[in-house]
Amino acid sequence: MASDRHHRLSAVSAVPALHVHQVTVRFGDATVLEDVSFDLPAGAFLAIVGPNGAGKSTLVKVALGLVVPQRGHAALFGEPAGDHAERVGYVPQLKTFDRTFPATALELVVTGLRRSWPARVRPAEAERARAALERVGAAELATRPLARLSGGELQRAYLARALVRRPELVLLDEPATGVDFLAEHDLYDLLERYQADSGATVAMVTHDLAAARYHADMVLVLNRRLHGYGTPDVVMCEECLQAAFGHKHHGHALSL
Ligand SMILES: Nc1ncnc2c1ncn2[C@@H]1O[C@H](COP(=O)(O)OP(=O)(O)OP(=O)(O)O)[C@@H](O)[C@H]1O
Ligand SMILES: [Mg+2]
Repeated sequence: MASDRHHRLSAVSAVPALHVHQVTVRFGDATVLEDVSFDLPAGAFLAIVGPNGAGKSTLVKVALGLVVPQRGHAALFGEPAGDHAERVGYVPQLKTFDRTFPATALELVVTGLRRSWPARVRPAEAERARAALERVGAAELATRPLARLSGGELQRAYLARALVRRPELVLLDEPATGVDFLAEHDLYDLLERYQADSGATVAMVTHDLAAARYHADMVLVLNRRLHGYGTPDVVMCEECLQAAFGHKHHGHALSL
């Protein structure tokens, strides 16, 4: 649980895992992120929350170096975002994933080692990919075509892909969407075990405010601008959430 990690966080390096400085992103006329700044300490578990269209996925892409801001910058472990892809694992938001792509779960995991689809999987790669699938409880999916995976199974394959290089920073964009309660519980359990083993930093976009409050060391409330950043007890106050979400439907998370 989050509180178990607090003393570990205070002992880790002063260089933040993720440094976001005055980031502004525009797509055409629309300003999607405006002057967003925060530092995420190494070893922390961050939950990024905010309504649809708030810029959460865009922020993750800025951290990955996939979106270049018009203003400001992001740095990972003190280096420009995008410079060290091998230190970062990424689980993309799967809303738009093309399931007809002719590949197996194992090949998907291998793309986490090579950053491209393999024409032929080398034995050493297959071994690492199988081990990663096994760690996420999905060993039996290895030879299954992607078209024949359920939503939750696909999420697991993506998680294996994100963890296959044992990254120092894991970025997950709504990884629990479409999975059942037990699978979601497994996901948090797995991430917390991975963090305990490796000291990695985790940043996760989620719509589940109760899970954010329970599992995260830090919560970032976003709606184009930063509406709050800090520990869950401080940031998940009624005013912060109402300012970001613009309505009052989140009392259930506050009462936990
Ligand atoms: N490549 C792009 N080109 C143009 N507009 C974009 C692009 N990517 C995102 N947007 C727009 O930027 C805004 C923020 O999108 P983003 O995907 O970051 O939101 P989000 O907070 O992740 O939303 P959701 O909760 O629905 O996933 C949206 O209005 C979206 O339409
Ligand atoms: Mg998104």
